[in-house]
Amino acid sequence: MIPVHLERAVFGIYATHSLHFADRSGVFVHLADHGSATAAELSGALGVDGETLERLLLVLVSLQVLTRTEGRYALAEGTRPYLDSREPHYLLGFVDHLVGSTAQRFGQVHDYLSRGKAAVDAELPDPFATLYRDDDSVRRFLTAMWQLSFHVSHELARLADLGDVRRLVDVGGASGPFSVAALLAYPRLRSTVFDLPQVGPYLAERAEAYELGDRLTFAGGDFFRDPLPEGDCVAFGYILSDWDDDTCEGLLRKAYDACRPGGRVLVMERLFDPDRRGPLSTAVMNLSMHLETQGRHRTPEEYLGLLRRAGFADCAVRRSTADKHLLVGRRSPVTVGAR
Ligand SMILES: C[S@@+](CC[C@H](N)C(=O)[O-])C[C@H]1O[C@@H](n2cnc3c(N)ncnc32)[C@H](O)[C@@H]1O
Repeated sequence: MIPVHLERAVFGIYATHSLHFADRSGVFVHLADHGSATAAELSGALGVDGETLERLLLVLVSLQVLTRTEGRYALAEGTRPYLDSREPHYLLGFVDHLVGSTAQRFGQVHDYLSRGKAAVDAELPDPFATLYRDDDSVRRFLTAMWQLSFHVSHELARLADLGDVRRLVDVGGASGPFSVAALLAYPRLRSTVFDLPQVGPYLAERAEAYELGDRLTFAGGDFFRDPLPEGDCVAFGYILSDWDDDTCEGLLRKAYDACRPGGRVLVMERLFDPDRRGPLSTAVMNLSMHLETQGRHRTPEEYLGLLRRAGFADCAVRRSTADKHLLVGRRSPVTVGAR
């Protein structure tokens, strides 16, 4: 008998793809609206081939994503917030990114193993030139980031305690998952998202959707070449995990310079357990970072070390109830000499 955890690992490729195809076909929204349905009812309503659909549904039943009672399928208890695309916790836009983008790069693992990442990457374009290769790729990536980050950002904004902050600078803030959550929580706050120019229109869409007016602005630029806008709080959400330690230290030093004396830096990231035995999502995304970026995931102590080396003091970890956590550091209230 194959141990259950090994069986799940072996068939994981089917699990992700079954979720993806069921989502794209509209299965989860239909079940959310109708409670339950037979495979024939579902295939009729969604206009898809019945036999293929039922085979996908049976995989999802065995994974306990769906239930099957007397031939009728329904969402398993507790899964709706993650499967229904109208819900704020919806996760399958991220699955779309895994299938449409990350999985396309698995061939690279073989090359990395045989030749090393540095040698292989030297022949490839910059990670964001690949991720943003056309308008559709930009939109899909930013949608995936929004879905990963927006919901937890409400909690991160509370943990960040921004009541005394007037100007937030959200470095690589994408279409604004953290900025929007922070602006909704703190009415006196203003935020500038600093990101690559092609991201601007997507931020403007969110600013309009959330009626934030000029409280949410965009500054287009390259954080390696351009100075960061000044603020009393500089945030990095899922940025440092894209880059190696030296690059992160350089970005944090830039943030130190952009941060008014006494101001704060916020780093929001997945965290490895101190012994690196988990959690699973961090270990998986650590491999994904290797394939898609120049970065990796770190332990809390590693992030605190980066913050301290860049000059920040009072560095601390504040854990959320989800898988994205907050690390904070403070710039000294008085300007001191060279760091
Ligand atoms: C992984 S996403 C993080 C998005 C968002 N902060 C979050 O927490 O979900 C990385 C962001 O960094 C931006 N970025 C990448 N390289 C950049 C550069 N050189 N200058 C400015 N922004 C950059 C990307 O456009 C993207 O929005």
